[in-house]
Amino acid sequence: MNDFSVEVHGLTKYFGDYKAVDHVSLAVPTGSIYGVLGPNGAGKTTSLRMTLGIIDPDAGTSRLLGGHKPASVRHRIGYLPEERGLYPGMKAREAIAFMGALRGLDWSEGRRRAATFMTELGLERVIDEKIRKMSKGMAQMIQLIGSIVHAPDLIVLDEPFSGLDPVNQERLEMLVRRERDRGATILFSTHVMAHAERLCDRLAIIARSQRRFEGKVDDARALLPMQVRYIPRDDSDAASIAAILPGGATLRGDAWHFAIGDGDVEPLLARITASRHGVAGLSIARPALHDAFVHIVRQVDAGFDADPATDAIEEAATA
Ligand SMILES: Nc1ncnc2c1ncn2[C@@H]1O[C@H](COP(=O)(O)OP(=O)(O)OP(=O)(O)O)[C@@H](O)[C@H]1O
Ligand SMILES: [Mg+2]
Repeated sequence: MNDFSVEVHGLTKYFGDYKAVDHVSLAVPTGSIYGVLGPNGAGKTTSLRMTLGIIDPDAGTSRLLGGHKPASVRHRIGYLPEERGLYPGMKAREAIAFMGALRGLDWSEGRRRAATFMTELGLERVIDEKIRKMSKGMAQMIQLIGSIVHAPDLIVLDEPFSGLDPVNQERLEMLVRRERDRGATILFSTHVMAHAERLCDRLAIIARSQRRFEGKVDDARALLPMQVRYIPRDDSDAASIAAILPGGATLRGDAWHFAIGDGDVEPLLARITASRHGVAGLSIARPALHDAFVHIVRQVDAGFDADPATDAIEEAATA
């Protein structure tokens, strides 16, 4: 078996003069859930389309499921594109079977699996409902099922959570985990950090056309120092409390907030314990993936703002 189900190197795409994707490389381990995160317009969809061979890159290569051309392995791939669409006149079950048939699945088997999937996901009410009568989110769930009904080895989902209510989001998370447990590899894009944080074995962050981070969720969170929230039991002497805390500690309500390096946790606890201020509340935690994402994207944006060419334009504009 191949170690990586997706190996793309140096993918680059221009739209006119604009470089929408700039030397993006990804390696998605077989059997993992892999997230591609990034702000709007970062280049996620374009990267996924090049990965699947839907559009040709200007540079770079994509190897799927062990080096075959994307077309030769298309029956082993499931794809939910960013722009959704099903035939409005079809019933849900037929729409799913139809998508399966396009990827080589026997029609009656597709109908059978469609009913099973829909029942498991609590969607049995709409098995025989026509697509045109469905809400947007419901139709999206049908399309999602249709994209995996043929039990693909590689599943690529572009913003699968967008437009789903919290219950359907949870069902989708369950479905993604189950597909992974079956042995499938899942590559998906999202802006919703909470899903990525819960689901991803690894992730890449793309901002301004380039890959800016690659690793595990915890690696991303470790880019930022730990956040401490400390409530003294005796808060009568703020200056004396501030003296045992790192510089930059701020008091909001009755709690002190500050960041701390990994090696400074025990010394901090020792100082608090040795003091007369006591502990009425204390939490020390890694920031969430959301904070790491915002940090990385802001850094990239700041780099662009500091770009000499941009500075020159801004100077000219303000002169
Ligand atoms: N067919 C196209 N023609 C011209 N420009 C395009 C085309 N497709 C995408 N772009 C541009 O390329 C950039 C990247 O677009 P892309 O859709 O890959 O971003 P994205 O990360 O998927 O964003 P979103 O989070 O909004 O889905 C954007 O600036 C977009 O306007
Ligand atoms: Mg997109």
